[in-house]
This record gives sequence, structure tokens and C-alpha cells, in this order.
Amino acid sequence: MAQIFSRKANALPTLSLMAALGGGVFAIFAIWYFFSPEYTDVGYAPPQPVEYSHRLHAGQLGLDCQYCHTQVTNAAFSNVPATQTCMNCHSQIRTESVKLLPVRESWVTGESIEWVKVHKLPDYAHFSHAIHTNNGVGCETCHGRIDQMEVVSQVEPMSMGWCLECHRQPELFLRPDDEITTMGYEPPSDYVQQNLLRVANEKILPPTNCSACHY
Ligand code: HEC
Ligand code: HEC
Ligand code: HEC
Ligand code: HEC
Ligand code: HEC
Repeated sequence: MAQIFSRKANALPTLSLMAALGGGVFAIFAIWYFFSPEYTDVGYAPPQPVEYSHRLHAGQLGLDCQYCHTQVTNAAFSNVPATQTCMNCHSQIRTESVKLLPVRESWVTGESIEWVKVHKLPDYAHFSHAIHTNNGVGCETCHGRIDQMEVVSQVEPMSMGWCLECHRQPELFLRPDDEITTMGYEPPSDYVQQNLLRVANEKILPPTNCSACHY
């Protein structure tokens, strides 16, 4: 009897150690899971059907974002350009390039190029480009230095906490409307004061109530 009791008593610390270890493993797993690129999506850069480079087109050639993403200031969805937009140039430039073969095929068959979406919010969260690009939020603030990317990758978590960080203090992030598509924008030293004035004058009030984003 005494032996059984003492065994049980001895089992206790072992059990709690196992629980602690198990908990440790769980915590490590949870941290790994929630902070891995698959979960936060930061760093997600899927290969695309055409080796299209923003670094070349938006960076070196200096094309404005809106040359291709034409809907970004008047719709929720920021469109990816139709093949026609590429052919404006590529019907004359690099017409023999193998890299452009899928573009020419799409042009002949009329079937759109199947670009792989990089940024994706869950269906239960609503987002509109127009409301942001018309209220002083630049592409760069959410998408980073696209003009330096060979392949587009996600640079911000696009999590709820991230959205709210700006919604609570927009004055830290806004820029003048004519700088929306500027890459490498450098704000003047008194930009927070300027933005506070603008926020008050234009009544810029990003919502923090749940139903604004979840409906
Ligand atoms: C010549 C046309 C063109 C120009 C100019 C252009 N883009 Fe794009 N953009 C594309 C194409 C095509 C894709 C889809 C393929 C890809 O992701 O690379 C795309 C994809 C994107 C994506 C990823 C969309 C997703 O799937 O989540 C972002 C963000 C983006 N562009 C932002 C910009 C910004 C910011 C600029 C200006 C600095 C810009 N683009 C200029 C053609 C263009
Ligand atoms: C304003 C003109 C212009 C537009 C619009 C344009 N491109 Fe280009 N593109 C160029 C130039 C210029 C080059 C570089 C050619 C060189 O290096 O000699 C190029 C190069 C390329 C290359 C590399 C070709 C190679 O053989 O190395 C690809 C791929 C490409 N573009 C895809 C696209 C796609 C896809 C679109 C539409 C979303 C597009 N381009 C729109 C001007 C344009
Ligand atoms: C306030 C942050 C924010 C700003 C500013 C912003 N975007 Fe986006 N962008 C997003 C989010 C979030 C998504 C994913 C939307 C979804 O899945 O519903 C996205 C998706 C995209 C897409 C893929 C198509 C789509 O609409 O889902 C393109 C292309 C794009 N953005 C281009 C741009 C360009 C160009 C600009 C600047 C003119 C810009 N974005 C400004 C946050 C932003
Ligand atoms: C860098 C700043 C910034 C970020 C990041 C940002 N927002 Fe906003 N958001 C704004 C501003 C500014 C407005 C405009 C408020 C106004 O017009 O009063 C706005 C407005 C909105 C609105 C209101 C639309 C309407 O019709 O009134 C929604 C919904 C919204 N944002 C969702 C999001 C979501 C979802 C995210 C994250 C994926 C996000 N925002 C990230 C600054 C931001
Ligand atoms: C500015 C827009 C915005 C507001 C306001 C907002 N949410 Fe969210 N919420 C989001 C986005 C975007 C996601 C998706 C995050 C992701 O994909 O990581 C999300 C995700 C969630 C989730 C899923 C779990 C998670 O954390 O990913 C829950 C639950 C949620 N929100 C509840 C709420 C509640 C409750 C409120 C009000 C107190 C609220 N949200 C206000 C944008 C918002």
C-alpha cells in the first residue's frame, strides 16, 4: 500500500513536468504557426505565369501604378491589367521574347493570363481600395516598395491589428493625394501636424467598430 501511495506521489511531479513540457511544445508550435509566413502571409510571393517585373516596369521604366491598375481609385477591387495593356508596348517591343510567349498567346486566344493573387483577405473582412486611395493612404504604405520587386511579395501582415493601428491614428500614415502612387515618399518633418489638420478639416474618421469591416 505504502508503495502505491508513494508511486502516485512521485507520479505527480512527472505529470506536471510532462504537462509543462507539453505546454512548452504547444507554445512553440503556436508561435511557429502564427508567425510563420503561411499564417501572417508576410513574404508570400507566389510564382506568376509570366515573369513580369515591377522593378523593370514601375521602377526603371517609371510607369505609374495607375497605368495598369486603373480601377484603384474608383473601385473596391484594384484590377490587374488586361493583356491589351501589355500589348500597347509588346506588340513592338521584344516581340520574339520567349518570356512574353504566354502574353502573345493570351492576345491571340483572347483568354486572360491567370495571374496568381498575392494579397487576400478572408471573405468575412471587407476592404475597399477607393476609400483608402482617396483619403491619403499610399500604395507603398500597404504594399511596400513594389517598384523594387522582381516578384510581388506581401510585406505587411494585413491582419486586423494592422488595419486598426492606422484606423486609430491615421495622422501617422497619411500623405497628400498627389503622392498616392509615389514610391520612396519622404514626408516633411511636420507631417503629423499637417495630417492632424487634414483629418479635422476633411473629417477623416477611419472606423474601428466591428460592423464596418465585418458585415
Ligand atoms: C505595366 C503594368 C503594371 C504597372 C505599371 C504596375 N503593375 Fe502592379 N501588377 C501588374 C500585374 C500584371 C500584376 C499581376 C502579376 C504580379 O503579381 O506580378 C500586378 C500585381 C500587383 C500587386 C499584387 C496584387 C495581388 O495579387 O495581390 C500589387 C500590390 C501591385 N501590382 C501594385 C502595384 C504598384 C503599387 C504599382 C506602382 C508602383 C504597380 N503595381 C505598377 C501590372 C502592373
Ligand atoms: C510602356 C511599355 C510597356 C508596357 C505597357 C509593358 N511592358 Fe514589358 N517591357 C517593356 C520594356 C521597355 C521592356 C524591356 C525590354 C528590353 O529589356 O529590351 C519590357 C520587358 C518585359 C519582359 C521581359 C522580356 C525579356 O525577354 O526579357 C516581360 C516578361 C514583360 N515586359 C512583360 C510585360 C507584361 C506582362 C506587361 C503587361 C502587364 C508589360 N510587360 C507591359 C515595356 C513595357
Ligand atoms: C490600406 C491598405 C492598402 C492600400 C493603400 C492599397 N492597397 Fe492594394 N490591397 C490591399 C489589400 C488588403 C488587398 C487584398 C484585398 C482583398 O483580398 O480583398 C490589396 C490587393 C491589391 C491588388 C490585388 C487585387 C485586389 O484588389 O484584391 C492590387 C493589384 C493592389 N492591391 C494594388 C494597389 C495599388 C496600385 C495601390 C495604390 C494605388 C494599392 N493597392 C493601395 C491593401 C491596400
Ligand atoms: C495606413 C492607414 C490605413 C490602413 C493600414 C487601413 N486603413 Fe482602412 N481607412 C483608412 C482611412 C484614412 C479611411 C478613410 C476614413 C474616412 O473616409 O473617414 C479608411 C476607411 C476604411 C473603411 C470605411 C469604408 C467606408 O465605406 O466608410 C473600411 C471598412 C476600412 N478602412 C477597412 C480597412 C481594412 C479591412 C484594413 C486592413 C486590411 C484597413 N482598412 C487598413 C486608413 C487605413
Ligand atoms: C478596420 C477593419 C476591422 C475592424 C474595425 C474590425 N475587424 Fe475584425 N478583422 C479584420 C480583418 C482584416 C481580419 C482578418 C485578419 C487576418 O486575416 O489575419 C479580421 C478578423 C477578425 C476575426 C477572426 C479571428 C482573427 O483574429 O483573425 C474576428 C473574430 C474579428 N475580426 C472580430 C472583430 C470584432 C469583434 C471587431 C470589433 C471589436 C472587429 N473584428 C473589428 C478587420 C477588422
